[in-house]
Amino acid sequence: MHRRTFLQCGLAGLALIGASPLVAGCSRAHRSDLRLTDDVITAPSLLDGDRMKMLHYASLAPSGHNSQPWAVRVVSADEWIVEADPNRRLPAVDPDNREALLSIGAFVENLVIAAGAAGFICDIELLAVSPTDRDLLRVSLAPGRCSGYPLARLEMRRTVKHGFRMEPLRSPDLAFLSASLGDRLHYFPRDTQHADCLREATTENFRVQSLRDDAQRELTGWLRLSSRATRRNRDGLTVESMEIGGLAGWFVRHWSDPGDFLKPRFRQQGIDATARMAAEGGGWIVITSPGSTVADLIDTGRRFQRMALLARERGIAIHPMTQALEEAGGREQFSKLHPGGIIPQFVLRVGYLDRYPEPVSPRRPVTWFLKPDFSARTHRA
Ligand SMILES: Cc1cc2nc3c(=O)[nH]c(=O)nc-3n(C[C@H](O)[C@H](O)[C@H](O)COP(=O)(O)O)c2cc1C
Repeated sequence: MHRRTFLQCGLAGLALIGASPLVAGCSRAHRSDLRLTDDVITAPSLLDGDRMKMLHYASLAPSGHNSQPWAVRVVSADEWIVEADPNRRLPAVDPDNREALLSIGAFVENLVIAAGAAGFICDIELLAVSPTDRDLLRVSLAPGRCSGYPLARLEMRRTVKHGFRMEPLRSPDLAFLSASLGDRLHYFPRDTQHADCLREATTENFRVQSLRDDAQRELTGWLRLSSRATRRNRDGLTVESMEIGGLAGWFVRHWSDPGDFLKPRFRQQGIDATARMAAEGGGWIVITSPGSTVADLIDTGRRFQRMALLARERGIAIHPMTQALEEAGGREQFSKLHPGGIIPQFVLRVGYLDRYPEPVSPRRPVTWFLKPDFSARTHRA
């Protein structure tokens, strides 16, 4: 059969049985293949093993399209500059770097937690004035007391998209999750008017975005469909992280390339799948911030991450669905419906799971995002 016909027949039918574990044995790149290994810790580097480990834990933070928009410049063993990597921007869906800064906030939160667990205090100084500045934060390490924070929370957190139960979140669980966010967390149980509105806005704005060529082209640039592409880049969206399971996953991994996702049929499949996902779960959480400065965005990313790290313990899945905040129509709708003014930063679908899956999305090794500070050397020379 011709490759294209084979692909068309296969995907049309097999997308329907996407959850089937029939082809579990085919080779895939998993987070476990890419785990922190001795060679990462002892790789010839600017930093010692403890500091490399802290940065590895920081890099387990979530990011839009798993773009991992961070870089770290080493001024000295105990002074680093956290940068936004200009090559990892998402101009079509995140032209103002809002999501990049939220993601880097999550990275910084993981870093502070991992440093605390290793017996260090991190002092964080804001350097950036504009959201598009490269140098965002100065991190200074000083000796402190070990916090005892369970780092497994950082390793086991993940975004989950499928298998949500239709049961609203219970009050004690909501209180547990809200600790870092207080009144910035707004929960809307399923089947309430607000939840229906968020479901519709998410589905509609996903549709609008899928039909926007620049956004879809940008997305395809972050697809890592084959195991080889995953291992080579160790970022972006894989078949596993998109939760395309079973035979459908096998087909996509072996028979499609990212360019296929520009075709109308693929776009429609994404739209249909999103509508189904948006209808699943126990409701929606919206996280707001008091302002939109760089400091506000980093702070909101940090608070979000503190919450996300707790979710697994309560069996709660968190799925950011951001399109309503990325598309102009979605943002207009938010401001029209909230004339008093709110600043939404995250739209999250939430729900209990029967079985919490393992993390699968890849990360770059620390050595790939670490760089020396040449200017510091020049000054000291
Ligand atoms: C600011 C931000 C926006 C995101 N938006 C979406 C989204 O719209 N849809 C989605 O499926 N995942 C979204 N994600 C989740 C990322 O795709 C996910 O964090 C990334 O692929 C890494 O996977 P992990 O969270 O399992 O480690 C978002 C994450 C962040 C931090």
